[in-house]
Amino acid sequence: METYAAAVQYDWTGLVSDVGQLAIEADDGESALTAQFGPARAMAREMASYFPDLARSMSGRAGRLAYIGTIEVAQPLRRQGRGTALVVRALDEMRDLGIRSVYLHARPEGPDFAEALVRFYERLGFETDDPDPALGDAVYRLDL
Ligand SMILES: CC(C)(COP(=O)(O)OP(=O)(O)OC[C@H]1O[C@@H](n2cnc3c(N)ncnc32)[C@H](O)[C@@H]1OP(=O)(O)O)[C@@H](O)C(=O)NCCC(=O)NCCS
Repeated sequence: METYAAAVQYDWTGLVSDVGQLAIEADDGESALTAQFGPARAMAREMASYFPDLARSMSGRAGRLAYIGTIEVAQPLRRQGRGTALVVRALDEMRDLGIRSVYLHARPEGPDFAEALVRFYERLGFETDDPDPALGDAVYRLDL
């Protein structure tokens, strides 16, 4: 598989709260993925004000967790494997960081895109308990 990832950056400034940031930029300079990671309790604290359900599920876990906050591939470059490559690279980094589970919200950019996004994440091995993820905003998880 093509790699496409050009730059991987860690931002440790969040370490005051034990939560670090990971950013992976693709070779085109526009497509990118960002994620947060840290111990389950710190992650739950971080998520609590935005996503209370996710925070509850995280707080019951042990070890380190990650949350993919954004992923975007430049429009003309879609369907060439870049999005998949960004996630695969992020998962490799996360494995090296000893992260046990990776979470994300599937938030399609528009209603027409919802089923494509479900396919995108399910092909990568993410799973959801949401009975109808194509309605948008489903929580997905992948255990590493
Ligand atoms: C979601 C996104 C990152 C996917 O990036 P990408 O580089 O196009 O994805 P890939 O080429 O790796 O696609 C892998 C598979 O996902 C599925 N998929 C991705 N986009 C699809 C689409 N528009 N329609 C149908 N299936 C799609 C396909 O199964 C595809 O495999 P295939 O091309 O062999 O059929 C990109 O479409 C995007 O940036 N969307 C806008 C932002 C967004 O909605 N981000 C998600 C927020 S949670």
